[in-house]
Amino acid sequence: MKVGVVGLGYVGIVTAAVLADQGHQIMGVDTDKDKISRLQAGKSVIFEPGLDELISRNHQRFEFTSNYDGLGESEVIFICVSTPDRGGEINLDYVFSACESIKNVGSKATVVIKSTVIPGTARKVFGRTGIRVVSNPEFLREGSAIHDTVHPDRIVMGADEPQRLILLRNLWGFTKAPILETTNENAELIKYASNAFLATKISFINEIADLCEKIPGADVSVIAEGMGYDKRIAPEFLRAGLGFGGSCFPKDTRALITFAKENNTDIRIVESAVSVNSDRVKKAVDRIEAKFGSLKTKNICVLGLSFKNDTDDVRYSKSWELVEELNRRGGLVKAFDPTVKSAQGINVTVNPDRCIENSDFVIVATEWKEFNRLNLNTAGRVIDFRRILDKGKADMMVGVHDKN
Ligand SMILES: NC(=O)c1ccc[n+]([C@@H]2O[C@H](COP(=O)([O-])OP(=O)(O)OC[C@H]3O[C@@H](n4cnc5c(N)ncnc54)[C@H](O)[C@@H]3O)[C@@H](O)[C@H]2O)c1
Repeated sequence: MKVGVVGLGYVGIVTAAVLADQGHQIMGVDTDKDKISRLQAGKSVIFEPGLDELISRNHQRFEFTSNYDGLGESEVIFICVSTPDRGGEINLDYVFSACESIKNVGSKATVVIKSTVIPGTARKVFGRTGIRVVSNPEFLREGSAIHDTVHPDRIVMGADEPQRLILLRNLWGFTKAPILETTNENAELIKYASNAFLATKISFINEIADLCEKIPGADVSVIAEGMGYDKRIAPEFLRAGLGFGGSCFPKDTRALITFAKENNTDIRIVESAVSVNSDRVKKAVDRIEAKFGSLKTKNICVLGLSFKNDTDDVRYSKSWELVEELNRRGGLVKAFDPTVKSAQGINVTVNPDRCIENSDFVIVATEWKEFNRLNLNTAGRVIDFRRILDKGKADMMVGVHDKN
């Protein structure tokens, strides 16, 4: 099939690469000219395991451009543009602008919105452009985005008429995943409800972690393991730590809360999840100071800047927030991350060993597995806020009483 992909960020480029690997011809469009030049030159635009290999293996199936004219012949067009936060609500400008541009090239394609958009967006797009879009929200996780796109847990697609879904059903059929066909509104809301539920799970275990810290003998990892065996609960998203960050959960929970209020209802449980999440970093630093004293002029080596492991995405990263908080309290912070080599306002080092050696504190802030291979014996104190270090390696962990 001739497939157009509009917006070549984390979702768009992965969708494009996976569909190219299935033999489809991809026309990738992005308004960021620098990104297009890099892609045309065969260079990486994001760090995502396996992505570069997939793109180079299928290079003859890609065309990259910032000109929408190229989409004229596409049979299906995926809109994967950003839907950022604007003062607590969703900013749909990029989605509307992409749809207008598709309309202007006179495309006859099935237009599919993959971006996360609040219920009613498909209707609004129809009102503005006359395009009846299909809603096909994306559930991939950065760091395992290719695996998740090839083996999704489910595919959700919504449209006002079932025949609009035929192309999409064929396109995603190779995944063998269960397909839920429904209305646009349901598809749009399933995405928000899913993210808000997962965010709530994280805040829930973080509050249990706080409780564990008060109880000698308690350890939140063991509690999470015991809970996770229950199929109704499942073990994922029960890792206590600094809370949820990244480009999705913070903005999607806020957008859902605002959207609910606009519809004269409150989603109090999600409001609580957001509220719990908002002071995780501050509480974590309070706890260090309570145990080890003031951080003023202390050399601190923070391991991790990306919002999670196996990505270079730092949007709303809790690790970044942690570095800022430590600096604010007078700490002399250097940060190391396997993928993030520069960050505005942060002293980033490429040498973790020296950073560790010269530190009063090493703080693990992102769950990169390779941090376990670093020699931490030369550090002053070791604090693991992501619970990835082997037992006995840390002087302080989240969710464990200090005297354990
Ligand atoms: N990143 C994730 O893990 C993830 C997972 C599921 C869903 N989503 C959702 O998918 C959407 C995209 O997320 P992302 O992380 O890939 O975003 P991103 O910011 O990495 O990429 C968006 C891209 O869209 C481009 N763009 C913006 N306006 C455009 C326009 N009018 N025409 C063409 N290109 C345009 C930008 O230049 C950018 O390259 C968002 O709605 C997000 O909530 C993201």
